Amino acid sequence: MDKFNDKNGMNILECSKTAVLMQSSSVPYDTPQVQGYDWNSGIDYHKLFQSYKNTGFQATNFGLAVDEINKMINLRKIPLAENEIDEYEDDEFIRRKSSCTIFLGYTSNMASCGVRDSIRFLVQHKMVDCIVTTAGGVEEDIIKCLAPTYVGKFELDGKTLRNQGINRIGNLLVPNNNYCFFEDWLMPKLDKMLEEQKEKGTLWTPSKLIARLGEEINDPESIYYWATKNKIPVFSPAITDGSLGDMMYFHSFKNPGLVIDILSDLKRLNTMAVKAINTGMIIVGGGVIKHHICNANLMRNGADFAVFLNTSSEFDGSDSGARPDEAVSWGKIRKDANPVKIHAEASLIFPLLVGETFAWDFHSNHTSSRK
Ligand SMILES: NC(=O)c1ccc[n+]([C@@H]2O[C@H](COP(=O)([O-])OP(=O)(O)OC[C@H]3O[C@@H](n4cnc5c(N)ncnc54)[C@H](O)[C@@H]3O)[C@@H](O)[C@H]2O)c1
Repeated sequence: MDKFNDKNGMNILECSKTAVLMQSSSVPYDTPQVQGYDWNSGIDYHKLFQSYKNTGFQATNFGLAVDEINKMINLRKIPLAENEIDEYEDDEFIRRKSSCTIFLGYTSNMASCGVRDSIRFLVQHKMVDCIVTTAGGVEEDIIKCLAPTYVGKFELDGKTLRNQGINRIGNLLVPNNNYCFFEDWLMPKLDKMLEEQKEKGTLWTPSKLIARLGEEINDPESIYYWATKNKIPVFSPAITDGSLGDMMYFHSFKNPGLVIDILSDLKRLNTMAVKAINTGMIIVGGGVIKHHICNANLMRNGADFAVFLNTSSEFDGSDSGARPDEAVSWGKIRKDANPVKIHAEASLIFPLLVGETFAWDFHSNHTSSRK
């Protein structure tokens, strides 16, 4: 026995070396190598974001999501064949418009924060075909046309804010007066809708209500102004869970009888998915908006393209946190798709994602000023 052998005759050094220096099989030849951005090349944000795909972690997922969205954009450029023109569809909002129907979903806080302006850009330029959001995602956009939302701090004290009549959304502040302005603005519109229901038999749905609000607000800063103008339907099955619901509740005492039908909207949403040639889902956040879009895509045996962007994890079994592969198991994303989930906070990431995809494509086609 020497100092490298134990009492059983095992060579300790050899044993450790075999473990530590185990030989690798060769990596497939096309496997990308990790490489970050070289700042010696100057400050070029487009090149920086292009380097993300080979940077690793969520930067790689960002790069893959850019590719996935660009595939949707490129497919939309293929004109519809003669037999694909949806000439018998009377509902202009759900009529097939391109070779890739894009469903955009976002949580309410996206309309509260500055992501609203990225969404408005997409809707203004008809870059998406269908929106699903929650009640706050509608009213926060409209309210911003009436009065501003402010940047505050996450740490501001709730009791003090309540005494001041100021509501906090993360580090944003919304004076309660904004909701009073909203009430003054909305009530006569609800009266008019009820009158139309009684006199013309109009069956109101969340999407029809939102289209009416978009028309009435008449402000190009608003997402829904453009959605109405461009005939992009906005679905919100949980429309009552927000200030809109509060207003409809008050209205039901003052002037009762307004009916909002969610089933007709489900039919419109699912019909859009079923008649689409290809579909792409871009879903920012989780909860109702995520599942509602995925479920509509189940009706066509799955979406062709999907990008999820959220902070939620899958370990709790929540739908919010479920990775795209879970949706594949349900038939909500196609088996041969290459869906991507970016695990990240959307106010940081979504504007960058728009910049590297839709906005890049838009400015490439309209000007030479993309840098
Ligand atoms: N401004 C508001 O947030 C607001 C205003 C009025 C009403 N509400 C109501 O609150 C209810 C719940 O809101 P919701 O369903 O829109 O979503 P939510 O705020 O409950 O978020 C759902 C999930 O989305 C993900 N998510 C949310 N924000 C994210 C971000 N910044 N980055 C990445 N992922 C993010 C998280 O995983 C989260 O658990 C809705 O009924 C809504 O109408 C919200």
